[in-house]
Amino acid sequence: MIKCINLNKTFNDGENKNHILKNISFEIMDGETLAISGSSGCGKSTLLHIISGLENTSSGEIFIDNVNISYLNEIELCNLRLEKIGFIYQFHHLIKELNVSENISLPLLLKKTDRGEIERKVNEIIEKVGLSERKNFQIDKLSGGERQRVAIARAIINNPKIIFADEPTGNLDSKNAKNIFSLLKDIANFNNTSLIIATHDNDLSKVLDKKIIIENGNIHYV
Ligand SMILES: Nc1ncnc2c1ncn2[C@@H]1O[C@H](COP(=O)(O)OP(=O)(O)OP(=O)(O)O)[C@@H](O)[C@H]1O
Ligand SMILES: [Mg+2]
Repeated sequence: MIKCINLNKTFNDGENKNHILKNISFEIMDGETLAISGSSGCGKSTLLHIISGLENTSSGEIFIDNVNISYLNEIELCNLRLEKIGFIYQFHHLIKELNVSENISLPLLLKKTDRGEIERKVNEIIEKVGLSERKNFQIDKLSGGERQRVAIARAIINNPKIIFADEPTGNLDSKNAKNIFSLLKDIANFNNTSLIIATHDNDLSKVLDKKIIIENGNIHYV
């Protein structure tokens, strides 16, 4: 379960203070799915980064399974992310020097999973995201949508308890976008995973349990 209490985020840009998120509070239960929308620059990525511990808040508290993440040191935070969180970045952040299967296997390598198990899981996930033919490709040989699917596979391979997805279907055609949304939704249903997706796609976000919009730094339920 995730609980956010009075989150504020201000970016100091020279003399200007940009108050992006204002007193935001909400809860996401295990297995619950939430869409976050709002216009470009409203703070969707910032909110996802903050809740997942990738970025600091200016004030406010975040609890993940009753642990206040502001009290964790860097190593504890890394371990919590490795154990519980899968993050699909808006700009993928794949490792260029590694091929598709190596990128996808990274969370398992970090957890020191044995080789046979890694291979089995990577093959299973690669098939689910439709990239079996691209298994040994270098990242720079992939299309934007293929890279996005590698990033999705890497985020879900570890069966995380919470998946954050920052516009995970932004580079995909409507058929692939629908497939990816169903895949994420199925994972949430079957594994009781919480799913928080920043998306502009109203049709896709309709299938999620809840939807919030960020407007002028405040959230509204719709
Ligand atoms: N590190 C930073 N320093 C200063 N300003 C920042 C920083 N990161 C983000 N911002 C500003 O915060 C605002 C929110 O950015 P964010 O990336 O969260 O928007 P978004 O809702 O995800 O937009 P998009 O839909 O385009 O992805 C933007 O105006 C951005 O310029
Ligand atoms: Mg964004």
